[in-house]
Amino acid sequence: MHTYELRCATDPAWVEVVKSDFDRFLIDHAACERKASALAMSMVQHYPDKPELIQGMIDLAIEELAHFREVMKLMVQRGLRQSNDEKDPYINALLKHVRKGHAEYLLDRLLIFSIVERRGHERFYLMGQALEDEKLKDFYVRLANAEHRHYTLFMQLAHRYFDSAMVSARLDELLDAEADIVRRLPLRPAVH
Ligand SMILES: [Fe+2]
Ligand SMILES: [Fe+2]
Repeated sequence: MHTYELRCATDPAWVEVVKSDFDRFLIDHAACERKASALAMSMVQHYPDKPELIQGMIDLAIEELAHFREVMKLMVQRGLRQSNDEKDPYINALLKHVRKGHAEYLLDRLLIFSIVERRGHERFYLMGQALEDEKLKDFYVRLANAEHRHYTLFMQLAHRYFDSAMVSARLDELLDAEADIVRRLPLRPAVH
């Protein structure tokens, strides 16, 4: 299995920031799930010549949409509404590293989406640890496990279409870039 570690651990204070405004966190979390599903479907449409990618991304889109349904249910129970989509500063900063060129574009996006899922795994696990409500705890642990699968799915696809040395070299650069972004961004009641 293609696993790796992140290079900057999330500041433990992030969990407290989230708990202090859990409603806002949920609204952001719902948007993340919806965008993850849409993004997986955009990959499906973009690579008609890559059946393994299409299959993986369709499965992912369905699973992320199911997560969106679950988070929306929590929001409705709390009387929360979706807010206007604002750009996610973390995702935006990461996507600035995507290179042009057909092959580079695919490799960079697969690796960046893998890192985003890897970070999601780390943060949802922290939430699962920190929340008091048993149902919410279980929910976030389950989502953390899903993110772990998703991060390895993107790595499998990267290795399916690119040679190992190329994947490792670019992953190394992007992990450094991601760690810098995480260190630089303020803590918010949001997934990132
Ligand atoms: Fe998800
Ligand atoms: Fe995911």
